[in-house]
Amino acid sequence: MEKREGMTDKKNIMEYETVELNDEEGALVIIDQTLLPGKTEIIRLKTAEEIWDAIYLLKVRGAPAIGVAAAFGIYILAKQIDTDDYNTFYKEFVKQKEYLNSARPTAVNLSWALNRMDEVCKRNKELSVAQIKEKLRAESISIKEEDIWVCKMIGEYGLSLVKPGDGILTHCNAGQLATCKYGTATAPIYLGQEKGYQFRVFVDETRPLLQGARLTAYELHSSGVEVTLICDNMSAAVMRNGWINAVFVGCDRVAANGDTANKIGTSVVAAVAKRFHVPFYVCAPTSTIDRNTKTGEDICIEQRPAEEVTEMWYKERLAPDGIKVFNPAFDVTDHDLITAIVTEYGVARAPFTESLREIFKKKNAYEKGKSIWNL
Ligand code: MRU
Repeated sequence: MEKREGMTDKKNIMEYETVELNDEEGALVIIDQTLLPGKTEIIRLKTAEEIWDAIYLLKVRGAPAIGVAAAFGIYILAKQIDTDDYNTFYKEFVKQKEYLNSARPTAVNLSWALNRMDEVCKRNKELSVAQIKEKLRAESISIKEEDIWVCKMIGEYGLSLVKPGDGILTHCNAGQLATCKYGTATAPIYLGQEKGYQFRVFVDETRPLLQGARLTAYELHSSGVEVTLICDNMSAAVMRNGWINAVFVGCDRVAANGDTANKIGTSVVAAVAKRFHVPFYVCAPTSTIDRNTKTGEDICIEQRPAEEVTEMWYKERLAPDGIKVFNPAFDVTDHDLITAIVTEYGVARAPFTESLREIFKKKNAYEKGKSIWNL
């Protein structure tokens, strides 16, 4: 094939799997996202410590991808438990599960996926340990497959909220790299792109770890979407210019009343969007909606090391030695700043306590095999 200008031999980032299981090798396989976009390195994780570190250090990140990684991770660790006795097996399983669950506190997908895997053990305790391991494998694969379907559905519902040529702003990375395909907040953009919608997308760089600049801008640009990178303090400027018709963001945990935790800075964008009458949409798989958490006040916000603010990305330390640093990884956007929550079962609007309850009714009906369209 003739090599054209601008063509490289490097595979497009969109062709990689974010999270994979290599069952033969007993490994969780991920792209090390801390190295993107400069270097695409695929790493294999086999021990509990390697998996925990990969989640904590954001080598794999984004709520849905963390959930899938945890599901494959706990399966790999379960396979290593060398006993035929259920009680001995389960005791060790729970120990490993709790360890993985301690890697990051805010994204509920981590505990959600681990609890699904736990249920498999409890439901099948009459089976042999070897059979339980097979069931765990199947469940982890379902969690990944469901994620792809969920993102596609969020994309379809999200796309119904915008029109061709619209300007869209997004924060952090709720893209393919944060999920198994399409992303959540980027799913409407990718589906629109396939239909020739010609969106103009603005991406916040997302201090301090730059997921917007390093990951979202990279993904969208690699997909041929028209994308403009902006600093986190520029959302008001682009909205004032009338360039933004909608904001789409992801989330790490949605409380029962619609309050939403997402990457630090999200609530600022929501407040600015309200000021400029721009609709603010949260794209939320139901796996990220935690009905056991009443309001945003009850969401545990992860605090990260000060060095992420004072040193990372700079040739030499930028901030004065000894300076006090506040570095929460997430913030809560109050539900009254959110226009709608886009889920795989439809679009929920205020009052969210009721509309999210309806979404779960549809989910339950769907899971019982009924058609959601006949409700
Ligand atoms: O700290 P991160 O990079 O894991 O934070 C990611 C986000 O805040 C995403 O917006 C969220 O997890 C949704 S991903 C579909």
